Order: sequence, then C-alpha cells, then structure tokens
Amino acid sequence: MNDFHSLPADFTWGVATAAYQIEGAVAEDGRSPSIWDTFSHTPGRIDNNDNGDVACDHYHRRSEDIELMKQLGVDAYRFSVAWPRVVPGGDGPVNDKGLAFYDELVDDLLEAGITPFPTLYHWDLPQVLQDRGGWPARETAEHFAAYAAVVAERLGDRVKDWTTLNEPLCSSWIGHLEGRMAPGLTDITAAVRTSYHLHLGHGLATQAIRAAVPGARVGIVNNITTCEPATERAEDVAAAVRADGHTNRWWLDPIHGRGYPQDMVDLYGVDLPTRSGDLDTIAAPLDWLGVNYYFRNVVTDDPTGPLPQAKQVYLPGARHTAMDWEVNADGLENILLRLTEDYGPEMIYVTENGSAYPDVVRADHSVDDPERSQYLDEHLAACVRATRRGVPLAGYFAWSLLDNFEWAYGYEKRFGLVHVDYPTQRRTIKTSGHHYADIVRSARRRGRRAA
Ligand code: IFM
Repeated sequence: MNDFHSLPADFTWGVATAAYQIEGAVAEDGRSPSIWDTFSHTPGRIDNNDNGDVACDHYHRRSEDIELMKQLGVDAYRFSVAWPRVVPGGDGPVNDKGLAFYDELVDDLLEAGITPFPTLYHWDLPQVLQDRGGWPARETAEHFAAYAAVVAERLGDRVKDWTTLNEPLCSSWIGHLEGRMAPGLTDITAAVRTSYHLHLGHGLATQAIRAAVPGARVGIVNNITTCEPATERAEDVAAAVRADGHTNRWWLDPIHGRGYPQDMVDLYGVDLPTRSGDLDTIAAPLDWLGVNYYFRNVVTDDPTGPLPQAKQVYLPGARHTAMDWEVNADGLENILLRLTEDYGPEMIYVTENGSAYPDVVRADHSVDDPERSQYLDEHLAACVRATRRGVPLAGYFAWSLLDNFEWAYGYEKRFGLVHVDYPTQRRTIKTSGHHYADIVRSARRRGRRAA
C-alpha cells in the first residue's frame, strides 16, 4: 500500500457521482426534462438505447447510499444538483420539492459525518432552455447564475465547498462539436459560444455563491489530460500543442485571467461573443481547482481530421480500461505539477479519477476487481509523488461511488466502487471499494499520527 505521509493531515478522501447518472425519478416531484432525457430517448444515441429514467434509483435510495459511504469511511461526497429539479422552467419559479431533496441530502450527509461537495452543473440543462437557444445563448449563463443563487441561499448555511461546472469541455466539444453527448450538435460556432457562456456562467455563479454564502470555497472542475506527440516529427509536436490547447489551455487560461489562447481562436475561426467586463467575470478568483483525470492523450497530426486535427493513437504494450482509455498514472502527476507551475492554484482537488472494467459478479453477488484496485493504487501513488513535489493537493474523490449511467455508453461501462445490479438495485461493495476503505482508514491513522 502507498505511503501517505506526505499528504496533508486534513486530506479529504471522497467519492463522486452526478445527478443524471444515478438519481432516476426523472418525472417526479416537479422535475422537468433535461437535454439528457431528450438525448437518451433519441433512438441510437446511447448504447443499448439505455436512459437515465431509473438509473441507480438514488432519489429513493439516498439513505442506503449514504450508509455505503459510511462503510467506505469517506470524508466527503461530491454530487451534482439537477437544475431541472430545482428550477424546472430553467428560470423563474423554484420547485421547493426538488430543492428539498438536496436540502435533506445535505442534512443526512452531515449527520453521517460526510462533507457535501455539490456541483451545480453536471450537464443536465433544462430542455426548456435548450429550446430557447441553450448554452450558445448568453441568457443561459445568466439563468445559471440565478439558479446557483437559489441553491446557494438554501444550502449555504451548511455547505461551504461549491463547484460551479463539471467538465465544460464535454458540454462544449463533445455535446456541440462532436455530437456524442447532449444536445448532440456538430457545429463549431455553437461549441465555441457554449464554452464561452459556460465560463461566463461560472463567473456569474461564483459571484452569486459568494454573495449568498459567507466563507464559501468555490472551484471549477476541468478534465485535464496530458497531450503528448506520438513522435518527434514537427507535425506531431504541433498536433500535441493543438490538442493541449483544445483540451487544457482553452479551459484554464480564461479562468485565470489570460483570456482565450489566440492559437486556438485562430484554429476555430469563430468570433467570441465577448462583451466588456466578461473576461474579468470569467476570471473570478478561485479557492481551488478541480481536476478529473482518467488517461493520457498521445497524438499524431491529422490535417484532414476533425478539430483539433490531432488523432489519438494507441501505444503498443499500454494497458487500457474498458473505455479503451490508457492507464497512465504518471499523466496525473504531470498534470498536477503543470497546474501548480503554470496557474499557481491555492488548492487542487482530484475531483474524479477511476476506471471501468468488465466486472464479473459471482454467485454470492461479490465482485473481485483487482484491476480497479491497481488503478487506484497507481493514481494515488501519483498524488503522493505530486504532493512531495510541492503540489497543494487537498483531496481525492474516487469516481464513482456506484456503477451508473455512463452517458453515451449506457450502463455497460461500470466505474463504481459499489456494484449495482440494475434489475434489483442491489448494491454490493466491490473488492476495490473495500480496498479504498482500507486506504482511507490507514491514511487517516497516519495523518492523525503526523498531525
Ligand atoms: O462518468 C463520467 C463523469 O460524468 C464525468 N467525468 C468522467 C466520468 C467517466 O467517463
């Protein structure tokens, strides 16, 4: 097992989920459809035509799921709030029943000794707002901030750790350029405008949270990935720079007051819908940066391919998860160092990290998943190394507490530390979940001794 001495004594050990991936109950208590309901009900969009109608039924099984977190011994739970539950019209009246669900969740977590880390947007835009233009429209950013204020005012007496957005890259590039996620568009103008308005929404929501919650700690979560050239050829090196701009700099530079990287603005060829003062709003000072890390990206030049004209390649001998993502824990260490050196955050959390494997369920319902435990060990070792090299790492959230609806891949790809048998909704902690619990317990003991 790793030596966790160099992690801070108050290091946060957590697990993460997201609303549409686990809650189900999509038509209950006044929730309106989100773009993901629409997308997942469009034939052919999701593997096996799965959808999130029931998912892990967490909306009705909240207590059982908190009990699982207690068994894992985690300090914190990162979940997302579903905008269409809280403000079903996108803007305007608040749905008290929807808000009450998160209010009670927070109470239950605190009673269990678990710190809530809510995310305000994990991709489930109310469909009514999509119908009015979606993220390519500026008003969506303003409505997002108003919704953020509603949630912050209600939960802010108990919740201090806030995330505005999860992985705006996916909403923008995968949802509006590649079309593999909701709303399923393939339009670079819509994609660039989406990214801009997501950033603007982040900045406005940050102001709203700070106004509502004294002592709030606000962060944003990006999926950052090392982008390396497959060879030393100048074309491949340039492709890696483009991939890095597309995946990392586009998302990090503006929120750190550097504006949008000019090489990428030129590549996209789309005018940014900038208004005076926006870039300052987008660059609201952050209390922490969240990093979701899964794999490294090795690329070759692909001049006729889709933006950013850099093609991911598979290196011989590399290990891959069921997502076909390369297992490369050094990439996490490198990303953490780069963020620290280039952007100087006060604190970093690894807000997601985990792996999907084709789990085998035994007759007694147990799941032995040594590959997932190994993935955890390797990536936690990378966190320890990064901390020793000066990275201000404050916590780690394993993705995910439960097997869940893995977006366009449906239910087949399982990331959980806890297995979910969907027909019965039986939960079973996998061997990797027990392993994580051991890690948390032993790290906490060492932390206490070191403190
Ligand atoms: O399941 C997703 C999550 O919603 C966002 N980050 C990546 C995870 C695995 O694909």
